[in-house]
Amino acid sequence: MLFDRARSISSLSDAYESTIIEKGLRSDPHQKNVVAKLEHFHDRLQRYQPREPSILDKVFGGKKRTGGPKGVYLYGTVGTGKTMLMDMFYQNADGEKKLRTHFNSFMLDVHARIHEVKKTVPKHQRHNKSNPFDPIAPVATKSARTRGSYALMNFRFV
Ligand SMILES: Nc1ncnc2c1ncn2[C@@H]1O[C@H](COP(=O)(O)OP(=O)(O)OP(=O)(O)O)[C@@H](O)[C@H]1O
Ligand SMILES: [Mg+2]
Repeated sequence: MLFDRARSISSLSDAYESTIIEKGLRSDPHQKNVVAKLEHFHDRLQRYQPREPSILDKVFGGKKRTGGPKGVYLYGTVGTGKTMLMDMFYQNADGEKKLRTHFNSFMLDVHARIHEVKKTVPKHQRHNKSNPFDPIAPVATKSARTRGSYALMNFRFV
């Protein structure tokens, strides 16, 4: 479970409105739109119950996606409040299974985890060309269990 189900982030709009007043910021319709999307995303996260793959899934569809909620990718010109809104989302998201980190740090951590997983697999299995070992799946599964939600800073497509 990602967040405490008894609580909700519906207060994110309230948090936004309060911040606007307290800090004397402009009320921005684009930001309000983003806040609504973040709330919706949080609701989907709360409802989402990942299920353990069955034996049949493992045999026939081990690499199939389990259909978890897609994240929100915030983009926009410099200084439009992306970080501010993400921080607001993060602070208002209940639960301990969340992590706010820079994308570069996140990737360094992922690579370290992949390295650790590879060390546990015999060399002949790692280099089996017909059925190569995929370290991503166990790393992703473990990361999802320990950190249900990530807030990644400065994620960039190149
Ligand atoms: N609605 C607003 N009214 C006035 N100031 C705002 C508003 N939203 C954000 N700001 C201010 O604009 C500045 C830049 O915000 P922020 O750092 O969140 O932008 P950003 O989109 O993450 O920028 P960058 O692209 O550089 O990462 C901050 O000082 C923030 O407080
Ligand atoms: Mg920023």
